[in-house]
Amino acid sequence: MSATRKLHVKSYGCQMNAYDSQRMADLLAHEGFVETAAAEDAELLILNTCHIREKAAEKVYSELGRIRRWKEHAAAKGRPMSIVVAGCVAQAEGEEILRRAPAVDVVVGPQNYHRLPALLDRARRQGKLVDTEFPTESKFDALPPADRDAIRRRGVSAFVTVQEGCDKFCTFCVVPYTRGAEISRPVAKIIAEVERLARAGVREVTLIGQNVNAYHGEGPDGRAWTLGRLLHRVVKVSGIARVRYTTSHPGDVDDSLMAAHRDLPELMPYLHLPVQSGSDRVLAAMNRRHTRRDYLRTLSRMRHARADMAFSSDFIVGFPGETEGDFRETLSLVEEVGYAGAFSFKYSPRPGTPAAKCADQVAEPVKHERLTRLQAAIDRHQAAFNARSLGTTLDILLEKPGRRAGQLVGRSPYLQPVHVMLPESRIGDIVSVHIAEIGANSLFGILSPPAQRSGRTEPRLAAGN
Ligand code: 5AD
Ligand code: SF4
Repeated sequence: MSATRKLHVKSYGCQMNAYDSQRMADLLAHEGFVETAAAEDAELLILNTCHIREKAAEKVYSELGRIRRWKEHAAAKGRPMSIVVAGCVAQAEGEEILRRAPAVDVVVGPQNYHRLPALLDRARRQGKLVDTEFPTESKFDALPPADRDAIRRRGVSAFVTVQEGCDKFCTFCVVPYTRGAEISRPVAKIIAEVERLARAGVREVTLIGQNVNAYHGEGPDGRAWTLGRLLHRVVKVSGIARVRYTTSHPGDVDDSLMAAHRDLPELMPYLHLPVQSGSDRVLAAMNRRHTRRDYLRTLSRMRHARADMAFSSDFIVGFPGETEGDFRETLSLVEEVGYAGAFSFKYSPRPGTPAAKCADQVAEPVKHERLTRLQAAIDRHQAAFNARSLGTTLDILLEKPGRRAGQLVGRSPYLQPVHVMLPESRIGDIVSVHIAEIGANSLFGILSPPAQRSGRTEPRLAAGN
């Protein structure tokens, strides 16, 4: 191909969006586009937006203001520049984006970007357009596969979307409105994608979905498979040494998922299981469909299935009507569980969601103060969890060069970044590392001599496999 067409995808928000951005780049590679880090120089600029919290739409509009100037600048030099707004803000705002940001050419919802080449073509011929229809099948199965070089560039750990959308309707959340109803991909398509990744050198896959453990895709036997069953199949793909999944709903943890944690050494013993609040009153108002006790019972069953399990969670503080007493129950849950890490957020009213209409909104300074207290408790537990790693041996998947020469960074089973002195040729290997030092954000280790190797969590794999 002659002159390359430059593409820049700017991704906001969750892992689903990060994966979607990669898949858009893969799709557009077939149209001759090559990714560039310099957004101003791109012929095609895509904002893959997030709507989950805080003035998301306003931030997108101000970003579009800056981009309009880039577009004007490019036009003055006779260079074309097309602007696409994708993701959840695109879904929520639709036509409004074209009205408020005339520089935008295409607005495409998160379920429709597989149609991007056709949409761009139509926009060129007929003018600006919006596509926010909800399809009935996963777009991933309409996309061409990623090429080997693109997979290699992205490293040894990859995401695979297995499920999209959400039918839960937690009262604070926009996802059921922006991502639509649950759709699960068929098992065969997922396995084909994992095999392709493995052939290009990927060692770890994280199965992702807004509600991943509600997975119910069609199996080769024509029946609906659970996530537990899917995990049993994914670990059989040759070359895949580690598997994870995210994000789960506590109400959808079934026996097959417990069995997967019990039986599959490749399934990492680290689970992100958002609880949102420790107060039953708040959980009910959030329509979470589980109590604090249900949640704790699930964690305890998980620990029973696998003794080295650790957990992380999401929390919302200042949900409408949350009292100091409710909030203290959240703090006490954090103490009781002893999370290895967690994300916490101030409640943000999302247009169109039931909780946004509640009269008893919590004042901003109260939210702020509760968030500070919660984060202090979470940080304390995270530091304690990391400190407990000192002197232990962990299996580390080596991912990329570290900051210092001769150093690599990898991940422990608990997603802790671990630095170790090893040559680049070892990227992709899983090595036993003795943890010698705990830093603020990462651990430092030395390769364990073979006699001391723990072999605790994973099957041993040949180097460079
Ligand atoms: N306000 C604050 N946090 C929210 N989340 C989702 N919706 C909101 C909201 N309206 C948080 C939840 C969820 C995470 C992805 O984002 O904790 O688990
Ligand atoms: Fe949102 Fe609740 Fe669905 Fe999670 S389970 S995506 S918080 S509605």
